[in-house]
Amino acid sequence: LLGAGSRQKNLPPGPRGLRLLGNLLSFRPSHLLSNLAAWRQQYGDVFCVRIANKLVVVLNGHKAIQDALVKQPEVFSDRPPPFRDSDKDQGVAMAQYGEDWKVKRRLGLTALRQFGMGKRSLEGKITEEARSVCDVLVEKNGTATDMSLLLSNGVSNVICAMSFGERFDYNDMEFQRLMRLMSELVSGGGVARFIPLVRKLPSFKKDQESRIRMSQEVIDFIKAKIKEHKETFDPADIRDIIDVYLMETQQQNPDEADRTISEIGMINTVRDLFIAGAETTATTLKWGLLYLARHLEVQRKIQEEIDREFGASPPALSQRGKLPYTEATILEIQRIRPIVPLSVPHTTSTATVLRGFDIPGNTFVIPNLWSAMMDPAVTPDPETFNPGRFLDENGSLVRPEWFIPFSLGRRQCLGEQLAKMELFIFLATLLQHFTFKLPDGAAAPSMKGSLGIVFAPKAYQICAVPRDD
Ligand code: HEM
Repeated sequence: LLGAGSRQKNLPPGPRGLRLLGNLLSFRPSHLLSNLAAWRQQYGDVFCVRIANKLVVVLNGHKAIQDALVKQPEVFSDRPPPFRDSDKDQGVAMAQYGEDWKVKRRLGLTALRQFGMGKRSLEGKITEEARSVCDVLVEKNGTATDMSLLLSNGVSNVICAMSFGERFDYNDMEFQRLMRLMSELVSGGGVARFIPLVRKLPSFKKDQESRIRMSQEVIDFIKAKIKEHKETFDPADIRDIIDVYLMETQQQNPDEADRTISEIGMINTVRDLFIAGAETTATTLKWGLLYLARHLEVQRKIQEEIDREFGASPPALSQRGKLPYTEATILEIQRIRPIVPLSVPHTTSTATVLRGFDIPGNTFVIPNLWSAMMDPAVTPDPETFNPGRFLDENGSLVRPEWFIPFSLGRRQCLGEQLAKMELFIFLATLLQHFTFKLPDGAAAPSMKGSLGIVFAPKAYQICAVPRDD
C-alpha cells in the first residue's frame, strides 16, 4: 500500500491506495461522491489520491476551488492531454490551455451570442420548443410517462436551431438516433477514464471503443451539415453557428501560419457545443421534475407566481426578477443535483504551491463542485430540497458564492447564459400548463442517480396532469 503523497514530502495528504491501481477502486461511480466526502472530512479541503499511476488532486469546497481556478488561472486551466495523436486538434471543451483554446472559446462565445444567447430572438425559439413539449404531454393526458427523451428532444432542438438553422420533428428517425447517441455518450465513463493507464484496462478499453464509434457518428452528422452549409454559404447572410465558423475559416489563408481554426477544430467545436448544449440542460430538467413531483407545495408556489405574472401569456425572461420563488427553485435543483458534480477534469500547466502544498506540473485536478454545494457547513441538511435557502427574509433571491454549478475560472461553462434562459422558460412553461405527479401506487423513484460524464436520474415515470385553465 502506498499513500498518494508518500514519495514527495509536501504533497497534500490523502488516503493510501494499492500499489498498481492506487485508489482506482474507490472511483467506482456509484460510491465516488460519498468516498470523496469521507476523504475530505479526514484530510481537508485539498487532498490527493492516485488513480493507477497518476497523481490526482481533489479540490473541495468553493474556497479551495476558487484559490486554484480563479486565483491561479494560468496554472489550473489546462486539460488532460489527448490519448491519440489523431485527437490533437480538439474542440473547445477538452482543448489544451493556450492560444488554440482561446481562439475556439472566443469563437464559441461569439457564435452563441450572435445566435441569440441573451437575446429575445432566441427566447422565442426556446418558448416554441417548450410549447412543443407541452403539446406532446397534452396527448398523454396525465398518463405515466418517461419524459427523458422528450425533454432531450426539446432542449436539443434549441441548440440544433442555433447550430444548424433547423429544428427537427421529434419523430424524425435521424434525430432520434442522434438523441440516443448523445445520451449514451454522456452517461457512463466517469473521471477515471481520463487517465491513460486506466483506459488500457480491458473493461475501460471496450467502453472506450464504443464511445469512439458513437462520437464518430455524431461527427459524421455534423460533417454532413457543414457540407450542406458550404454549398449554400453566403457571407452576406450568416444563418447560424456553422456559418459563423465557415466565415472564420473562409477569411483565413490556409497556408498562413496564423490560421485561427482548422476544419477538424471547427467540427469538434460544433460537436462540443452540441453535446454540452443538449444533455446538460435536459438532465437538469429531469432532476427538476422529479424533485417537483415529490414536492407539490413547491409547484403550487411556482404556479402562483406564474399565474400572477403571466396569466395565460408565455413566460417572459424579462419578468424573471418578479418570480423569485421560481428562480430559487431552479437554483435549488442545480444545487441538490449538480449535473456535472466533478466538473470537467483540469490539469496543472506547471508546478505550483496551493495552500502551502506542493502541486507538481501535469497533475490531474478534480474541482469537486458537489462538495461546495452539498456542504452541511454552508447548506444545512444538504439532501433536503428547500428553495427557501436561496431567499432572504424579504423573499428576495440571494445567490451565495458557494453556488457554482457552472464551475469557476477561465474554463467556466461557456453556455451558462443559454442554460439559464432554457431552464427558466422550460420550467415555467411546463408548470404553467401542468402539475407533475408521481403515478399513484408506484414505488418511489430513486433520487440517487447515476454518475457518468453527467449525473443523471435513473429512469422514472411521471404524470403531467393538465391544469384547469
Ligand atoms: C464546461 C456546467 C450547459 C457549453 C462546463 C463545465 C461545467 C458546466 C461544470 C466545466 C467547467 C470547468 O472546466 O471547470 C454546465 C451546466 C449546464 C451547462 C450545469 C446546464 C445546466 C451548457 C450549455 C452549453 C455549454 C447549454 C453550450 C451550448 C460548455 C462548454 C464547456 C462547458 C463549451 C467547456 C468550456 C471550456 O473548456 O473552455 N459546463 N453546462 N454548457 N460547457 Fe457547460
